[in-house]
Amino acid sequence: MPPLNIPRLSIMLMTLVAAFVQASAAQAEAIEEKAAICSTCHGEKGVPIDKVTPIIWGQMEGYIYLQLRDFKSGARANDLMQAVVADLTKDDLKALAAYFAAKPWPDLQQPSASKDVAAAALALNTSVGCTGCHLGDYQGDSTVPRLAGQQHEYMDKTINEFRDRTRANNPGMSDLMIASPPDGLKAMSAYLAGLQILGSTGHGSR
Ligand code: HEC
Ligand code: HEC
Repeated sequence: MPPLNIPRLSIMLMTLVAAFVQASAAQAEAIEEKAAICSTCHGEKGVPIDKVTPIIWGQMEGYIYLQLRDFKSGARANDLMQAVVADLTKDDLKALAAYFAAKPWPDLQQPSASKDVAAAALALNTSVGCTGCHLGDYQGDSTVPRLAGQQHEYMDKTINEFRDRTRANNPGMSDLMIASPPDGLKAMSAYLAGLQILGSTGHGSR
């Protein structure tokens, strides 16, 4: 058996390591590149360009991934988002979810709800138990989205779409929204829009 050629072996190892580092750098670059497309609508600093586009910066990673998956399969219908994800792979979707979840949640400076509106939102929560899933202060968890500080008009739109089942990717949420009084839901989205409580979950907000 010939003696091991240590210098040659270590050169081989170093080349392997270098290739690996290069590959992961290329992957990170590729995600940056893919994420740049998202910024044209979801915003350079996480502030969406229009009021019916949701915040994705600092949103829950699991939730972002599920939505991207549902847009891709067509379970959640939206012409813009379906076109965006059409050519992305599952790995891309996972990497994008991790990328945006790690960003800080932006403050859209939406007004705080009046006392009456806040009371109506609280009453709805008492009867339906929204915080049972969305957690205290509506900060979200895993595959349940953060709602605190989300775009007001987007929330109204998506709640209506759950109610008429245009947003069909979670029939359970549709049932729940249909069972909730429309006035209470209106108050709730106004209340949520003005809620921030940054830093309380430490997720994307530190
Ligand atoms: C042309 C504009 C546009 C582009 C580009 C775009 N989005 Fe969106 N995105 C939207 C709109 C509008 C919605 C809301 C869809 C709806 O109302 O159901 C949305 C919804 C989403 C949602 C669901 C959020 C939620 O709260 O339910 C996620 C996640 C998302 N986009 C991620 C991305 C990612 C990641 C990219 C880049 C790969 C991207 N988007 C590119 C316009 C865009
Ligand atoms: C049983 C758990 C549960 C309860 C209770 C619940 N939600 Fe949800 N909610 C979810 C899940 C899970 C989703 C994500 C659905 C999906 O995958 O599309 C969601 C999505 C939403 C969205 C869409 C957010 C976005 O970014 O598009 C809104 C708005 C919302 N819920 C509001 C409410 C309100 C208001 C209540 C109380 C009236 C409530 N939810 C009660 C689990 C729950």
